[in-house]
Amino acid sequence: MKKIKLKSTATLVMHWSQELYQQKPLDRYMKYLDLNEGEYLIKRCDDICDWYKEVILNRKMLIYDNVILNLISNKEPSQIVIIAAGMCPLSLKILQNYENRVSHIFEVDQSYMEQKTSIYNEFYPEHSDNVSCISCDITKPNILKYLKTQENFDFEKPQIIITEGISYYISPSELEKLIKIFSSHDRKNKFIMDYLIPFNEVDIDRRKIPRDIFETIQEHCDIPTITSYSRKDIEKLFKENKWNLQEIYTLNNMEFQRKGKYKYFHTPSDGWIQIVIGNI
Ligand SMILES: C[S@@+](CC[C@H](N)C(=O)[O-])C[C@H]1O[C@@H](n2cnc3c(N)ncnc32)[C@H](O)[C@@H]1O
Repeated sequence: MKKIKLKSTATLVMHWSQELYQQKPLDRYMKYLDLNEGEYLIKRCDDICDWYKEVILNRKMLIYDNVILNLISNKEPSQIVIIAAGMCPLSLKILQNYENRVSHIFEVDQSYMEQKTSIYNEFYPEHSDNVSCISCDITKPNILKYLKTQENFDFEKPQIIITEGISYYISPSELEKLIKIFSSHDRKNKFIMDYLIPFNEVDIDRRKIPRDIFETIQEHCDIPTITSYSRKDIEKLFKENKWNLQEIYTLNNMEFQRKGKYKYFHTPSDGWIQIVIGNI
């Protein structure tokens, strides 16, 4: 099978997170990704901060751990929706260990979904019946319509909605509409999302890192605006919609959970990404 050429932002996140996928059977998946397109962007970001992968690894591990925690504690197998999944092999990582706790996984993205389906069908036939990759623009209201046409989709099942690495690139109103699509009257659905906090809320000695990284991505990928949220914005969003905010993690919480010690993020204001977990 021909390697899949990734665009620059997708390359960057795969480059930073690849050590999570080096073991069997995920290593096979990585062989089909061509990260060459992102070389220039990777080099520029590495010049800004050569340990930036720690941010992505902390984020990815916290999300994975929480997904697993929810899968285990839900009474019945859960349905998982991964918004803007890109080429991240999170589904495979989940299915590899917890397939019996999952009813079905839906991945949604405007790119790569056909190629991802081909990889699943060809190289992971043991899991491919349990994942559907759907090509769709997540800012358009028809996302649920698309999902509802899928054979295995069941809105009544407990769902885990993962929104990772995308809140920066869509507007606050697009984000709110997206969350509303998945909210249930009895708040049975778990929502997990990372977001960027405003640079002026990051420690003064640190804020240059996220500002330069995001400006570089924005300029290189021609992204019109980068959206950030303060903790207060997230609390307000949840309160106004009567969603239940369960927890907000800072990068220093994430680092401690992953490593058992603090190395790069000693205090909450040393970090610029947070993860919110709530019931919607
Ligand atoms: C930085 S990647 C994140 C991938 C993955 N969630 C992760 O964290 O590893 C951003 C992804 O968002 C997707 N994306 C951006 N805007 C989108 C939109 N309007 N609708 C659907 N997907 C979108 C891109 O195609 C890309 O795969």
